[in-house]
This record gives sequence, structure tokens and C-alpha cells, in this order.
Amino acid sequence: MEQPVVRLHSLRSVQLHVPDIAACSDFYSEVWGLSVVDRDTDDTWLRGTGPSHHVLQLSRAERNALGRISFAVRTRAEVDEAARRLTALGVPLLREPGSLEDVGGGYGLVLVDPEGRRVELSCDLFSVTPRSRDQAVPIGVTHVVLNTVDIDRAVEFYTQVLGMRVSDWSEHQMAFLRCNTDHHSIAFNQAAWTSVNHVAYEMASMDHFMRGIGSLKHHGITPLWGPGRHGPGNNTFSYFADPAGLVCEYTSDVAQVVEDQWLCRVWRRVPELSDLWGTAGPPSQDVRTHMAGIEDRGALAAPAAPAASEPVSAS
Ligand SMILES: [Fe+2]
Repeated sequence: MEQPVVRLHSLRSVQLHVPDIAACSDFYSEVWGLSVVDRDTDDTWLRGTGPSHHVLQLSRAERNALGRISFAVRTRAEVDEAARRLTALGVPLLREPGSLEDVGGGYGLVLVDPEGRRVELSCDLFSVTPRSRDQAVPIGVTHVVLNTVDIDRAVEFYTQVLGMRVSDWSEHQMAFLRCNTDHHSIAFNQAAWTSVNHVAYEMASMDHFMRGIGSLKHHGITPLWGPGRHGPGNNTFSYFADPAGLVCEYTSDVAQVVEDQWLCRVWRRVPELSDLWGTAGPPSQDVRTHMAGIEDRGALAAPAAPAASEPVSAS
């Protein structure tokens, strides 16, 4: 393919499906450090201290699942052009370009990736006034790690079609992809089934990161894994389970990539590289189980889902 269909600006927000929305809303707003911007019976929208209207949408569902990943693009014309080219490539659109019927406003489309994940490309969402960064609470989401049954196909789609770049590999097990200077906005992990592995929230500094962990400890919540610092991305990490059992991460200090100067490398999967400080130790079976989650075929599992090769219009 000659050119990607779009140039992603940043990861904007993530939607998670959870059965107990009240417990999860309470956790993310009263413990994790996000703030509720809107809610109705089946959804809660939460913001960080950054300008995004919301960074997390919790939606009531029968079982845990990834609802949608939203990437910011710059203009409506880019959304429209992406739609035209995605359709030409046979990529299904769950939502044709148009006004997003959502509390955050905006204009966008929703495509379905090869494993059924719903990916929103959007612009012109409402913004909110940034808040002080004094508190040890998240600025917003900074990356999502996705379990995939075919890491090469996933990487091919997100690079060739969506224009992301591979920053690093962790052997042939994980691939870290960027869409801006952050080392990764998403990563794929080769796994037994498709699911969300974890969602990471950016803390303003390592001090905020540690104070955030301390705040959780005050609430009686200890990390599933961490604190530590990863080799790939050089970011700090501390992983926790939310009330749904989904994994959320505090992170900071992710490596900044200078395009045309960055050399993609393949990291060996050894403890001294996945945990540079040696503070976290190897991940336990417990954290691995949480990160594996349950199988999530996304839009491919919906009864009304179209065949993957047939573009459709949202009704
Ligand atoms: Fe992470």
C-alpha cells in the first residue's frame, strides 16, 4: 500500500465494558484519581488533569471487554479521507464519518480492525480546562496494550493502514507502536486470545507516580506488579487490578522518540530488561492471568456484525 490512510495525532481515550459499572466508577473516580465528567445509567465518562473531555468511558455490559480505542486526528477532512480509503481497502466501518453522538461531541468514524476491535478516529471533541498537576493523579491515558492471536497481522494493520511506527519489539512476543513522540501509544502482545491486556495512565513525573502508588496503598490497594522501570520504552510501571479485574497501570517518563533518529531494536525477554531497577521481580501468575483476561472478539462477536470483508454503514 502506498500511504497509510491517516496520520494519528495521539491516543485520546479508551472505552471499557464492565459488568459492575458502579464499583468501577467508584474505583476510577475515588481511588485511581480520575474525575467523572458525565454519567447516565449505563455509562460513566471520566477525565484526567489534561484537556481531553474524557479519557475513560466505562459502559455496562455482561462481561469485560474493550469497547473502543479512540485516536485523535487533526481535521474533519482527514476523517473523511480516512473513511474513503478504508472503504476502498475493505476495512469495515461501524460508523461512517459524522458527528459523534457522545457526550464529548466531535466528528469521527469507527473502524473495525482485523481482530474485531473498534477504533475511533475523531477530531473536534469538546475539551475541558486542564487542572493543576500538583495532585498525584493521571493526566490521561498514555497507552493500551492489546492481546492478539496474530501479532504480525496486528502490527501490519496498525502500521500499514493506520500509519503507526514500530518503536521496539520484545522478542516476537510484544511490539510497541507509536503515533507521536511517545515511545508507544499501543502495544501488542502475542497471546492465546484477543483481549485488552492493560490500560496505562500517565503520571506527570516519577514523584507523582510514586505518590500515586502511595495513595492507592492508603486505600488498601497494592500493585499486582511493580513499581519498576521497563527496558522497552524506559517507562516506570506499576500494575493494579480494577474491580472488574481489568489491569490498569500508573506510568511516567516514557521514552521520547525523535523520528528518523530512532533505531528499532529487539529486546530480549529477560528479567533485567523487563525490570531495569530490579525492584519488581518477574510478573506473577496472578498478574499474567489478569492481563490475559477473557476472550474478546469485539465487533466480530456481535450478532449483527457484518462479515469482516464487507464495509457497512452505521444505521
Ligand atoms: Fe504498560
